[in-house]
Amino acid sequence: MKRILVAYATMAGSTVEVAQAVAEEIAKNGLQVDVLPLNEVQDLEAYDGVVVGGPMIMGWHRAALRFLKKHRETFQHIPLAVFVTAMSLTQTGETSVGGIPVYVDEKLPKPPEKEGRLNFRERYARLSNYLQPILRATRPVKPASMGIFGGRLEYGRLKWWAVLFVMFIIKAPAGERRNWPAIRTWAAGLPAAFQLEATKADGPSVRAQVP
Ligand SMILES: Cc1cc2nc3c(=O)[nH]c(=O)nc-3n(C[C@H](O)[C@H](O)[C@H](O)COP(=O)(O)O)c2cc1C
Repeated sequence: MKRILVAYATMAGSTVEVAQAVAEEIAKNGLQVDVLPLNEVQDLEAYDGVVVGGPMIMGWHRAALRFLKKHRETFQHIPLAVFVTAMSLTQTGETSVGGIPVYVDEKLPKPPEKEGRLNFRERYARLSNYLQPILRATRPVKPASMGIFGGRLEYGRLKWWAVLFVMFIIKAPAGERRNWPAIRTWAAGLPAAFQLEATKADGPSVRAQVP
């Protein structure tokens, strides 16, 4: 049976459930899927495809970026997909970055305050600004698929400096913005993006390890 790894980084925990939903969708194609926090990943060579997900935390989660850089050679022969969770995305009409089409959760982007002139925060929260560091980390490999989705923000789970950053720099209101249909729609396309045949006869299988 073909094996897929869904490896995630998280700060406050909400990306764990996103990773699990992604894994469930992939497993519907008769693939065996392991869900692991990045720091528990041992042997990538055991997998036929790898999904790496993490939240925007003043740039994409540092551990996720480090993971991609560390394994960029492996991703030359094992296909890679990447997902990002975020609370703020400027509506710019961008649908691809570096030539790679990106699945954008349609509920996430917000139009700029003044049409045609982005302020500092809106420029920061552009799709290309978020995703270019990820593509630099995987170079020369291009992910087979990329998606960006709303996340969840709860001030009560954060340290004081994190609260200040999201209140004043991101200006993201707290709340639940995970869009499960969008997440699952993207994930359902991953077996095809990885060019793995559907072998439904095997039955779905998800093995999750969460903190
Ligand atoms: C310190 C901090 C920085 C963040 N930076 C960004 C950001 O730059 N852009 C964005 O859209 N969301 C940002 N967020 C929101 C998170 O990406 C979002 O809440 C995510 O779902 C958190 O995932 P987690 O619960 O797995 O940690 C930030 C949140 C925190 C706490």
